[in-house]
This record gives sequence, C-alpha cells and structure tokens, in this order.
Amino acid sequence: MKTAVLGFGTVGAGIYEMLSQAKGLEQGPVLVRPGKDDAAFKRTSIEAVLSEPGVEAVAEAMGGIEPAFTYAMAAIKAGKHFVTSNKALVAAHGIELSAAARERGVGFLFSAACGGGVPFLHNLSIAVESDDIVSLGGILNGTTNYMLDAMQRRSLSYGEALKDAQKLGYAEADPSADVSGLDALRKIVLGSAVAYGVLPTDGLYNEGIEHFTAEDVKRIQARGLICRLVAKCAAVPGDKVYAYVEPVLLKASAAECSVLDNYNLARYEGKCSGPMVFIGQGAGRWPTASAVLRDLDCLLKGRLYMLSSDCREGSADNEACRHSYYVRLPGSFTGCFEVKSYSESDGTAELITKPMSVKAMHELASRLRADGADIFFAALED
Ligand code: NAP
Ligand code: HSE
Repeated sequence: MKTAVLGFGTVGAGIYEMLSQAKGLEQGPVLVRPGKDDAAFKRTSIEAVLSEPGVEAVAEAMGGIEPAFTYAMAAIKAGKHFVTSNKALVAAHGIELSAAARERGVGFLFSAACGGGVPFLHNLSIAVESDDIVSLGGILNGTTNYMLDAMQRRSLSYGEALKDAQKLGYAEADPSADVSGLDALRKIVLGSAVAYGVLPTDGLYNEGIEHFTAEDVKRIQARGLICRLVAKCAAVPGDKVYAYVEPVLLKASAAECSVLDNYNLARYEGKCSGPMVFIGQGAGRWPTASAVLRDLDCLLKGRLYMLSSDCREGSADNEACRHSYYVRLPGSFTGCFEVKSYSESDGTAELITKPMSVKAMHELASRLRADGADIFFAALED
C-alpha cells in the first residue's frame, strides 16, 4: 500500500524511512512546505500528493489543527485511508473524520496519537468489542515524564529538563501543550472516545507541571514521595465521563514511579479482564513512527476504525471525583482550604486538604493564581 506522508519532521521522517522496509507498504510522496522540496519524493501541495498515481493511504505528521483537518478531509474524500499521530486534530475533529471515513469506506486510525509507541488505543479498541471498560488513564506525556524524572532523579532544573526533552524530539513544536497537561488531556479524551464512545469537549481539567520547582522537589522528597503527571477517565452516570490530568504524589513503590525518561504507562481496567498496563516510549521518532506503521498494517488487514460509528461529542463531569491534595502556596492564601495538616516556613505554606472534588481544586487554584498566588498542587492517593 503506497502511503503518502504529510510533514517531514521528527515523526514524518521516521514514518517515511520505516515505509521503505515494511512488509506490504511502499513509500509515497511527502508533503513539505514550499521551498523545502529538496528531494524528488517531496511535494509542496496537498493536491500534488493526493493526485500521485497509486497512493492509497495518507499518514499525517504535521501537527496542529489547520491545515491538518482540511488535508485530512481532502485525503478521505479522495478515497485514501487516513492515519495520524496528531492528537490535537483528533481531539478537535475525530468525530467528523470518523464519519467522513466511514461514509467514503476508507480507514481512520490514530493509535500513535496517544502513548507514542505504546499500543494502548490499539488494544483498548479491541478490548471494547468484548469487555466493558471500568476506567483508563496513566502517564500519557513523554516530555513531562522526562522532565519530572530528570528534576527528581538527576536534580536538573525545570528549564534544563525542558531543553533536553526538546532536543530529544519529545516535545511539541510549542511545548506549552506538554507542560500544561493539555497534550495528556487530549490523549485521555481520545481514550474516552475509544472506550466509551464519548469524546468530551467541555468540563475537562488539566493541571500540568509549570508550577513545579526544584524547591518543590526537595519538599516532596522530604515526605518520601515522587511526582508524576497522571491522566484519569471513567464513565459516570448521565452519559458522561470524568476526564482530567493533574500531578500526583506517589510512594516509590507505585508502578508509575518506575516509569522513567520519556516512557509512558497507560492502563485500563476491563470488567472481565481486570487491570491491563502498558509501558513503553511515549514520545520520539522511532516509537511514534512504529505506531503509525502498526496502524497502516491494521488497514492492510482490514481493521479500519478505532471509533465506533455511534461515537459522539459529550461533556466531562469532574465533580464526583474527590481526593486530598498537597498544596504549596503563599501562607497568606491558605484561608479557603479545609485542611487535614498544615505547615509554614518563610511565608510558604504546605498543606494537605481534606478530600475535595477535582473540579473544586482546579477552579480554586485558577482563582488564587488570578489573585497573584504562585501555587503547586498535586493529588494524593487516599
Ligand atoms: P515536528 O518535528 O515539528 O514536525 C512537523 C513537520 O511538519 C515539520 O517539518 C513542519 O515543518 C511540517 N509542517 C507543518 N505544517 C506543515 C504544512 N502546512 N505543510 C507542510 N509541512 C508542514 O513535529 P513532530 O514531533 O514530528 O510531531 C508531528 C505530530 O506528531 C504532532 O501532531 C505531534 O503531536 C505528534 N506526535 C509527536 C510525537 C513525538 O515524539 N515527536 C509523538 C507522538 C505524536 P516546519 O518545521 O517548517 O514547521
Ligand atoms: N509531545 C508528546 C509527548 C509527544 O511528549 O508525549 C507524544 O505524543
């Protein structure tokens, strides 16, 4: 199957190279920006790519929502299978792309968009055919896991750790989606769409690691805890899901704490299968390209979709999820918390809250930040 590639960066160049050796697949043209067509296989317009004789599938690795969405629709309407590593695109337009692909009778797969090389969505989409999914989640962003690990195990500063993650090709072109937790949130949204047929578009919360400092590392290490950025999702009554991302403080014995560097840990719990855990590289050229190639191979074998035909947009409800939080903030801002324990040193307070809802904690932090407070917060497993 001759496959065109859109984008020739970290992932796109990896896909193109892997296509040369993959059984049943063949290199097609590659879309690059005007002025960057320095090789015979490169094209500078989507029309030139789609009109190339023999192209049956298109693998998108440009990133962003536009023009990726326009190009994806053009490819599908031209009768090409469409696979992508772009979670921003699928979180924003997955339902429309899926409907268009089904109408045209071509495939639409995106397992590289969640977990890099980890075959998480792939397995989840198979599991839902025979089991009910109780919950899903895990460490879904390689950049922030790399950074948290480097800060806590190797004492790198936040800035040094981010620079390394960018150099290694893990971070997005604009890393703010990584560090804010938005990238992981988009991935859990895709997980929800696959597991529950609900792609939530509102009521979602993401707290990232932007407020985590070298001083916080020392404070939580003094408590014998390790920080990881974790996504969580499950169905809740009323045809909704809960879905959120936030830092979590864990004991060293937790499975998440053995997940180092750019690795991800994605898990789901099936009603019959019980817990399933997948660990592997969540970012980087070859792991991600390998996931795209896996999707192309699924197409060859007739497995065309990971979203059900009745998958729909919906809302998240994070009110019912409650747990205690660790909060570090200026001592003058602590009045609005119900606390289990509290300490203060040089004007900086550390407190453990009584259980409160995810919605309440995330909204309170954003109100206090708007009032000028520098806050780091993380969930505690009760
Ligand atoms: P990247 O290194 O920035 O590569 C993107 C490439 O696409 C760049 O060469 C860019 O060119 C090109 N491009 C963007 N818009 C284009 C357009 N309109 N026409 C032609 N070329 C265009 O990004 P990446 O890391 O490969 O990521 C690509 C996608 O994969 C993103 O959606 C990302 O979220 C996803 N992903 C990445 C990883 C990873 O580890 N890197 C893992 C999983 C998923 P310019 O440089 O000129 O802008
Ligand atoms: N920037 C993303 C990450 C790439 O670090 O996880 C993989 O989706």
